[in-house]
Amino acid sequence: MAFKLLVSLLALAVVSNAGTIRKATCADGRTTANAACCVLFPILDDIQENLFDGGECGEEVHESLRLTFHDAIGFSPALTKQGKFGGGGADGSLITFAAIETPFHANGGIDDIVDAQTPFVAKHNISAGDFIQFAGAVGVSNCPGAPRLQFLLGRPDAKQASPDLLVPEPFDSVTKILARFKDAGFSPNEVVALLASHTIAAADHVDETIPGTPFDSTPNIFDSQFFIETQLKGTLFPGTAGNQGEAQSPLGGEIRLQSDADLARDSRTACEWQSFVNNQSKLQNAFKAAMAKLAVTGQDTRKLVDCSDVIPVPPPLAGSAHFPAGLNRRDVEQACRATPFPTLPTDPGPVTSVPPVPPS
Ligand code: HEM
Repeated sequence: MAFKLLVSLLALAVVSNAGTIRKATCADGRTTANAACCVLFPILDDIQENLFDGGECGEEVHESLRLTFHDAIGFSPALTKQGKFGGGGADGSLITFAAIETPFHANGGIDDIVDAQTPFVAKHNISAGDFIQFAGAVGVSNCPGAPRLQFLLGRPDAKQASPDLLVPEPFDSVTKILARFKDAGFSPNEVVALLASHTIAAADHVDETIPGTPFDSTPNIFDSQFFIETQLKGTLFPGTAGNQGEAQSPLGGEIRLQSDADLARDSRTACEWQSFVNNQSKLQNAFKAAMAKLAVTGQDTRKLVDCSDVIPVPPPLAGSAHFPAGLNRRDVEQACRATPFPTLPTDPGPVTSVPPVPPS
């Protein structure tokens, strides 16, 4: 173990002819811009194999992405101004102080991925804050259509748990959600961009009777279907009715959060929401930029090393933007007043129900 670590640290720093670009060749022959990043390759291999089931965009990837957010959003300058501890942002406190933070109501179900990631943090020489963001970026790279996310290394260990009530709830109003994000440093457009994450997502606990119910019809592909399908008229509850934070969805087997339904229809966010429909490059660029910011929330970036080139290049998008079979433009609840909803084809065939995301 110690030997392995030493070997991976024994990276060769090479200065290019121009003398400007430093390239490091790590012990296993892989290269990266900075020798300090070599420690990440063994972690990358380990999590791809043993956390993400051989490089899938499945449940653990979805949960790991959710965890990047729940850890990072524990950051409130407003609380600090009141003389209270405002949280350390993307500092790994959700793992370091799991006993305090996982029981917070908004963190429902997050204990699964915290439990799954904790042994990896213990096994490798990496802080919990770095690990959470690294696992999120690596996981997203398994999803076709995703951008290659930035990753910076070097977050110190968290010293204190995040305070409660900083993670938004699906039953919060748009005003409350936007205010919470503003406090943490994010604009309404950045909130919409971050919610692209719900294109590779499912809910286990909004309706406990139907675990693994996805937010769009393609939960293993990073596409714009989430932004299309959340704009369609809600007609059913995929499981039971009356769950807190749930709105009616347009498709069997698909669940819609009240917060997503409201953000898609609110005048402050509707046009940005619609702008991602069938615009993969904007979707990728905006999500990448917003995630880069989220991943260093509360951190001093001058002390971090850019290890983005360790993150694998995601596979290209599979499929193209469409209305699900049986639905079309007439089902769109137009909310953006400035521009019409894009014209899209309807998937051929009979109306389908979306299958759940399987547990691994
Ligand atoms: C308004 C803000 C947000 C609210 C209210 C919200 C709420 C939720 C809820 C209730 C779930 C379902 C949890 C469950 O029942 O298992 C969920 C899942 C998820 N969220 Fe969010 N979320 C928000 C923003 C974000 C952001 C910013 C990210 C990442 C950048 C994110 C990533 C995810 C992912 C990937 C899942 C799926 C987890 C899985 O499939 O296991 N969410 N979210």
